[in-house]
Amino acid sequence: MEIAMSMLVPPPPVLGQKMSPTWPDPRFLAFLGQRRSTPIALLAEPGPDSGETGALLRLAARVPDHGKLFPWRFLVFAGAARARFGEVLAARWLALVPDAPPEILAAERARFLRAPLVVGVVSRSVSGTKIPEWEQQLSAGAVCFNLLLAAQAMGYAGVWLTEWYAYDDGIAQALGLAAGERIAGFIHIGTARDAPPERERPDMGKLVHVWPET
Ligand SMILES: Cc1cc2nc3c(=O)[nH]c(=O)nc-3n(C[C@H](O)[C@H](O)[C@H](O)COP(=O)(O)O)c2cc1C
Repeated sequence: MEIAMSMLVPPPPVLGQKMSPTWPDPRFLAFLGQRRSTPIALLAEPGPDSGETGALLRLAARVPDHGKLFPWRFLVFAGAARARFGEVLAARWLALVPDAPPEILAAERARFLRAPLVVGVVSRSVSGTKIPEWEQQLSAGAVCFNLLLAAQAMGYAGVWLTEWYAYDDGIAQALGLAAGERIAGFIHIGTARDAPPERERPDMGKLVHVWPET
């Protein structure tokens, strides 16, 4: 899949160009107030095409990033590449669990077929800078969430998964991750078969501490 940059979203602003610091939008607030992921079992075709994918990645990359290091990069799996990566997953699983039953290996082969588009967000912390690694990793997390938001705003549904293969050295090698690179998430994007249910949300009273004024 060639990633094309589409004009679906406005072109990036000119460097240094000013804009209003606020963008009041009740619809966006309502969206955030309802926002949720779509369980992987509810994802189906169609997914973003090449142009939409290019636009999504460009939007996802507009995140806070201390030091302008861009401490992340993307791995795109679409079309037949998803089944090819499934073969890699199954082979690795068999190496880890030599007596793995055929149905488990079949599930590994089909792992990336659950969504039409899977984007791996790689956290690539830059060394030799005064920006703490933690902050660089947080920026990669912001990319993951921004990608989810952009996908939903484009009419798609998605979910941020890691699963076992995000933490496996053999898979990291197969993906070509360099030393210091880690998977922040595999963002699965497609069309929702059904309305995603709400899940439990935190009791904010237990999580918020207001610092006393006196
Ligand atoms: C870093 C990260 C990794 C995650 N990995 C998984 C996973 O491997 N499997 C899973 O079922 N959910 C995983 N989740 C949870 C889902 O992405 C999602 O957060 C949850 O289903 C509901 O989130 P929502 O608030 O967007 O609805 C992960 C979340 C994060 C932030």
